[in-house]
Amino acid sequence: MHHVEDTALRPTSLAEYVGQRPLKEKLAVYLEAARSRRESLDHVLLYGPPGLGKTTLAHIIAAELGVGIRVTSGPAIEKPGDLAAILTNALEDGDVLFIDEIHRLGRVAEEHLYPAMEDYKIDIVLGQGPAARTIRLDLPRFTLIGATTRPGLITGPMRSRFGIIEHLEYYRDDELAEGVRRDATLLGLALDDRAAMEIGRRARGTMRIAKRLLRRVRDYADVAGEGAIGLERARHALDELGIDEQGLERRDRAILRALVEMFAGGPVGLDTLATSVGEDRVTVEEVHEPFLIQRGLLQRTARGRVATGGTYDHLGLPRPASGLPGGLFTDEGTIEGAG
Ligand code: ADE
Repeated sequence: MHHVEDTALRPTSLAEYVGQRPLKEKLAVYLEAARSRRESLDHVLLYGPPGLGKTTLAHIIAAELGVGIRVTSGPAIEKPGDLAAILTNALEDGDVLFIDEIHRLGRVAEEHLYPAMEDYKIDIVLGQGPAARTIRLDLPRFTLIGATTRPGLITGPMRSRFGIIEHLEYYRDDELAEGVRRDATLLGLALDDRAAMEIGRRARGTMRIAKRLLRRVRDYADVAGEGAIGLERARHALDELGIDEQGLERRDRAILRALVEMFAGGPVGLDTLATSVGEDRVTVEEVHEPFLIQRGLLQRTARGRVATGGTYDHLGLPRPASGLPGGLFTDEGTIEGAG
């Protein structure tokens, strides 16, 4: 679900886009070069965890180039005809076609995309059976921007057709705070710098989460009838939301607690762990685990999920006297070749 305000708050220039500095510096060069040569920008693949602003960046690229943008997603393109319809309708020379979740594009649609990306041509099949014939249509010189959270699922032939392949990084806390302050200003909120930093610290490196937390903190401030949002108000609201000091939510802590209390710190299989907290495996694996792993609060091993020293510390439990699960795992990671 999207807030009406979300799109209104979106930055429209690279200068307004917070963080991702190395990426912004490279993009600025590519944009300037394409503009000065009066060419369309090379196709761009943006990858990285969800919520870091890939879609926002695609809109900014189009705005910086002064071209139009058409937005679709891998799952929305089911038949090659869907792709042909998008490419032949309303796309003009230089325009951006943004395909979100491009790793979910079907194989047939993907193969039709190759000549479109390379030669700006698309093959369209007319009719059926023996009477069917193929016509080749010319397309405008568009720029494809693909976004994915799963770059490993992009096929080699697809990847090789992108001239620009860039990774988005998790944001630092101060960058998240800056994004939060920016939104607060646009929303007309009086947000203390320390409150912005508190939200940034608990937003797990993710701009989308930081912005969402700001909305919820604002809700608490509104209900309390407080105009200005200070550190205490922000802390109180975040605590009420169940967001802890490290940005873990209740569900994250439930997974860690199950791992430690029901399975003695593991190793335990993903399905078993997920079932024990009433969750499905994909949600645990794709929604909760990436952050827990990144923060060193859980490890994936060949034999299953295991707790780390940090898991016990975070839950406020003593580390097991007998050593960490299986005795094989340290805070530094899995001991290669063990087990
Ligand atoms: N608003 C400002 N900076 C942003 C960013 N880096 N990502 C998403 N939205 C933003």
